[in-house]
Amino acid sequence: MPPALPQDAVVAVVGAGAMGAGIAQVAAQAGHRVLLHDARAGAAADAQRALARTLDALAAKGKLTQDAARAAAARIEPVAALDALAPAALVVEAIVEDLAAKRDLFAKLESIVADDAILGTNTSSLSVTALAAGLRRPGRVVGMHFFNPAPVLPLVEVVSGLATDANVAATVHATAAAWGKSPVHAASTPGFIVNRCARPFYAEALRLLAERAADVATLDAVMRDAGGFRMGPFELMDLVGHDVNFAVTSSIYAAYFDDPRFRPSMIQRELVDAGYLGRKSGRGFYDHAKDAARPRVAEEPAGPRPDTIVVHGDLGPAAALVPRWRAAGVTVDEQDAVAAFPDGVVAVAGAWLALSDGRTATSRAAAVGAHRLTLLDYALDFAKCSRVAVSVADTCDAPACTTTVGALQAAGVAVARLDDVAGLAVLRTVAMLANEAADAVSQGVASPADLDDAMQKGVNYPRGPLAWADAIGVGRVRDVLANLAAHYGEDRYRIAPLIARRAITGQPLAGAAR
Ligand SMILES: NC(=O)c1ccc[n+]([C@@H]2O[C@H](COP(=O)([O-])OP(=O)(O)OC[C@H]3O[C@@H](n4cnc5c(N)ncnc54)[C@H](O)[C@@H]3O)[C@@H](O)[C@H]2O)c1
Repeated sequence: MPPALPQDAVVAVVGAGAMGAGIAQVAAQAGHRVLLHDARAGAAADAQRALARTLDALAAKGKLTQDAARAAAARIEPVAALDALAPAALVVEAIVEDLAAKRDLFAKLESIVADDAILGTNTSSLSVTALAAGLRRPGRVVGMHFFNPAPVLPLVEVVSGLATDANVAATVHATAAAWGKSPVHAASTPGFIVNRCARPFYAEALRLLAERAADVATLDAVMRDAGGFRMGPFELMDLVGHDVNFAVTSSIYAAYFDDPRFRPSMIQRELVDAGYLGRKSGRGFYDHAKDAARPRVAEEPAGPRPDTIVVHGDLGPAAALVPRWRAAGVTVDEQDAVAAFPDGVVAVAGAWLALSDGRTATSRAAAVGAHRLTLLDYALDFAKCSRVAVSVADTCDAPACTTTVGALQAAGVAVARLDDVAGLAVLRTVAMLANEAADAVSQGVASPADLDDAMQKGVNYPRGPLAWADAIGVGRVRDVLANLAAHYGEDRYRIAPLIARRAITGQPLAGAAR
């Protein structure tokens, strides 16, 4: 494996906007002399002065010494002419997201820098293969995809196009690691790892909203408090901006030749058309005006508290509720599984409570002849979660469903009742995240370990989607996807071949060779 570029190697950054300035800061703090160039006169010098202030502020907060801040700022040199980048061993471009502009820049750089200098691109959505095409030495072009803000977020996707030299990718990987980042390797495919594999987080939420499963505040609360995600999908889309999120979704959808997995949502398009872009425009799914009231999260009213509940069989991930019931003074009678619910079920006052398997409560109740059925959404950690989502079969009479709600409340969780949608919220989202991740792995986009790492570091997921599917049980995830596919009749929910195989063998998705 080639080592990282030495500290005395000169790094050039082209484009002194939000990303370029951040990348220059990272490289300078790592000890490199950084040449910063921007086509707009004065922009690089402005960015250098702003970076010096940022570094000073970091020193004032005690994040680095005053000397280190001054030295890093002094290492960043704004340069007016592209020719001045000649001494660079690595150039990272962060100019406008336009294929022709980036190609033109690389073509010019080829005749300026040394033959062994690496040409890195921070593109989020363009093909590294296409960016390198036509160059004299396409093997030295590699994606070095930082996340915004670059000095703060650890992930760097090191993206190899068809012509990228493996040694070049390895050098950039080692260099990003030496800069204190967490690099992962990715093949140049639309969305690379994170922007592709995160799509279901938004897409399933938008589908649930389109089906009026619940309001946005309630769905966000379920995804946070049961799913363990740092932000709910709707608040996150409001933060990212609907124009940006919709454009990324649309470009990935087009790049995959209209694969229904990636189909954008009409709801988001409406928001863009209305100019409701999220926080930046003051309104998106939420009203972001200063005095706006936070919408209420819907919770079921208190149901009757049971003295005794019967647990039939193994509840799988939901088994962690049993100690919570016992700690709350509820008697839990553990018995063998019943034929209608081989995967375990809770019986309480003549009603049933089972973990969702991707069917609607109504269809599952009809299939097994248990009409008073409540389905429980998956939670990241049933031992600790403060909220869960449920759905109730249309055939369940009102008093019966309050008993299952009361049982969950007795375990100390707030209950959000969704309309009877297939796979509820957390379960179907995690199943679809794992499905996309499994496809990306089997298509050679990334290794399982890099993929899981990227999703945790790039978008803060509480677990990598592959390890998460292993924790739920790959067979269970396969069943959820199969039931979603049957329910909707859409190719969107087709099962990733790797999940189908692993569900048979029981081998884990994470960390396993494909
Ligand atoms: N903003 C993000 O969240 C984000 C995250 C990851 C990657 N990216 C990618 O990083 C790149 C830059 O994004 P940004 O948000 O920093 O944009 P930006 O608009 O803030 O900055 C772009 C800068 O490039 C300069 N520029 C444009 N054309 C140029 C050229 N031909 N030569 C030299 N300078 C030129 C502009 O004057 C501007 O200062 C894009 O490829 C984008 O897709 C952005």
